[in-house]
Amino acid sequence: MASELKFQWFSCFLRTGIAYISSVAVHENFRRMGIAKRLIATAEAQARAWGCRSVALHCELNNHRAMKLYRELGFKCISVPEGAKWSQPTASPDFNFSFMMKLLKLPSASAA
Ligand SMILES: CC(C)(COP(=O)(O)OP(=O)(O)OC[C@H]1O[C@@H](n2cnc3c(N)ncnc32)[C@H](O)[C@@H]1OP(=O)(O)O)[C@@H](O)C(=O)NCCC(=O)NCCS
Repeated sequence: MASELKFQWFSCFLRTGIAYISSVAVHENFRRMGIAKRLIATAEAQARAWGCRSVALHCELNNHRAMKLYRELGFKCISVPEGAKWSQPTASPDFNFSFMMKLLKLPSASAA
C-alpha cells in the first residue's frame, strides 16, 4: 500500500523551529481510510524528534476536504508575521492559500 501513496516528505526549518509539510496526497483508491491522518501523525513525530515546536503547511482555501482534515488534526489558520521569510507555495496566483500551523506538545520531562 505504501507504494500507492504519493507523499512528498517535508523539510524542517531549524532556525525557527517550524517543520513545514510541503505536500500531502493519497492515491484516490485509498482515500477515507485514515492514511492522511497517519502520514501527518508521522510527520509530527519526526518534527518533535527534530526539536521543532510546531508544524506548518499551506492549504488551498477551496480544498474543503483538506481544510477539514487539517482543522480536525488541530491546525489553525494564522497570519504570517510581516517580514517573515517563510516558505511560500509555488502555484498560480489564482489560488488562494491559507497558512496553517499546529503547536506540538513536547513530551513532559516526567514521561522520559
Ligand atoms: C486530502 C487527502 C490528502 C485526504 O487523504 P485521506 O487519506 O483520504 O484522508 P483521511 O482518510 O486520513 O481522512 C481524514 C479526515 O479528513 C477529512 N476528509 C478527507 N477526505 C474527505 C472528503 N472527501 N470529504 C470530506 N472530508 C474529508 C475528514 O475529516 C476525514 O476524517 P473522517 O474520515 O473521520 O471523516 C486526499 O483526499 C488527497 O490526496 N487529495 C488530493 C491531494 C490534496 O488535496 N492534498 C492536500 C493538499 S493541501
